[in-house]
Amino acid sequence: MRVMYVTGGHDETYVRFGEREEELQGVAVARVGRYERDHMCDAPANSSVGWRDPGYVHDALLTGLKKGHKYYYRVGNDKGGWSATHSFVSRNSDSDETIAFLFGDMGTAVPYNTYLRTQDESISTIKWILRDLEDLGEKPAFVSHIGDISYARGYSWLWDHFFTQIEPVAARVAYHVCIGNHEYNWPLQPFKPDWAGYGKDGGGECGVPYSLRFNMPGNSSEPTGTGAPPTKNLYYSFDMGSVHFVYISTETNFLPGSNQYKFLKHDLESVDRNKTPFVVVQGHRPMYTTSHENRDAALRGKMLEHLEPLLVNNNVTLALWGHVHRYERFCPLNNFTCGGNVGQKAGDGKSYTVHIVIGMAGQDWQPIWEPRPNHLEDPIFPQPKRSLYRGGEFGYTRLVATKQKFVLSYVGNHDGEVHDMVEILASGEVVSGNGDCSINDAISDANSKPGSQVVESTLSWYVKGGSVLLLGAFMGYVFGYVTSRKKSEAPSNWTPVKTEES
Ligand SMILES: [Fe+2]
Repeated sequence: MRVMYVTGGHDETYVRFGEREEELQGVAVARVGRYERDHMCDAPANSSVGWRDPGYVHDALLTGLKKGHKYYYRVGNDKGGWSATHSFVSRNSDSDETIAFLFGDMGTAVPYNTYLRTQDESISTIKWILRDLEDLGEKPAFVSHIGDISYARGYSWLWDHFFTQIEPVAARVAYHVCIGNHEYNWPLQPFKPDWAGYGKDGGGECGVPYSLRFNMPGNSSEPTGTGAPPTKNLYYSFDMGSVHFVYISTETNFLPGSNQYKFLKHDLESVDRNKTPFVVVQGHRPMYTTSHENRDAALRGKMLEHLEPLLVNNNVTLALWGHVHRYERFCPLNNFTCGGNVGQKAGDGKSYTVHIVIGMAGQDWQPIWEPRPNHLEDPIFPQPKRSLYRGGEFGYTRLVATKQKFVLSYVGNHDGEVHDMVEILASGEVVSGNGDCSINDAISDANSKPGSQVVESTLSWYVKGGSVLLLGAFMGYVFGYVTSRKKSEAPSNWTPVKTEES
């Protein structure tokens, strides 16, 4: 298990850990890193307005853990002090059980007005996931945040707010990410074909805070073409229980011949379906959407041309995307054609992949749904056949899977209830339905299938290459509050005008 946190100093720090809270005998030394103002590629990230010293990022790998055990830990040193005690459940490669919380485009909320609109709804998303984690007890789970992470966009202190906000979750379960346009895009990015529509959404960060503040499995790396450190955490994969998870970058080269394409092809062709009957691919910009997201139409065309064959030929169960700030579930798809089932045997010629857009975790203000050619400003009605469920509500998805059954539920933030669900059997049969289903109901339902090998009390936690616990800023790090105008200064009856994001 990897533990990461930020401090205001570069002194060596440690993670002390153990199975008993009062006896933290294990010690892991943290590697220390940071990034500098001149690593930022553009304004506002490199301007006096956007730049704040990010402090020092500490990164410690805890080894020698028993499978499926609860561990307590603290971070710090005797000189600077120690954090509160947190806990996690270690991974267990012997279990088939998979539990995850997945979403994109969450952001953070701040208690004042700042240069950018922030994402108040992210508070609810974290609140309900914490509720679910409490319900789980000591069962392991992980979070998957598929791009557009903090929405700092060059305003450095928003990263610190973000990590502080997610800390209650990220300090106890692994927090996995992939890159979005708001972590990366800048005018001189090295891969910028005309058709891609990559803009300036990274606010000059050019992926540097993303690359240094996270440490995902794998060794993907792309040069920035500037003096900045290379971009990391672009594509990787791991198994947890009965599911093989793959993360890709829609912001860097994914065309045939690229390193990423080679990785994805080799990875999908190497999956042991006996061990992990389900495969989930995740990236930021969607391959399918019926939203008013016309700017990415050409990029989607390239994804459909080059990446969809990899998905369908390798019988990928589910593709999850963000970027569009809505929930939208599609039928099993192959070139816009609906199929009944998800294939399980490579090359059977009947392969389809379920696609779901899950970018509804906090960021809002986006026109929704595809316009009709003669009514460009109006959403399309009726819904296209391939789009089975379109939700306008904030929320997140949660995944519960065993070797027999894969259940993904859409939880709405207004009530914390399930509003949509898709169930996929190991046979490839897709069973869709709505209904209220608590996470423990979903687990026992998945376990109740004949032949299930899952014992509910068995803790499972298997993440090949690195689970990552992320703590917020720690030991007196000073945020950039000083430049901010307090929210309370705004007239109480005034509602801020929320403009569409650029
Ligand atoms: Fe995005």
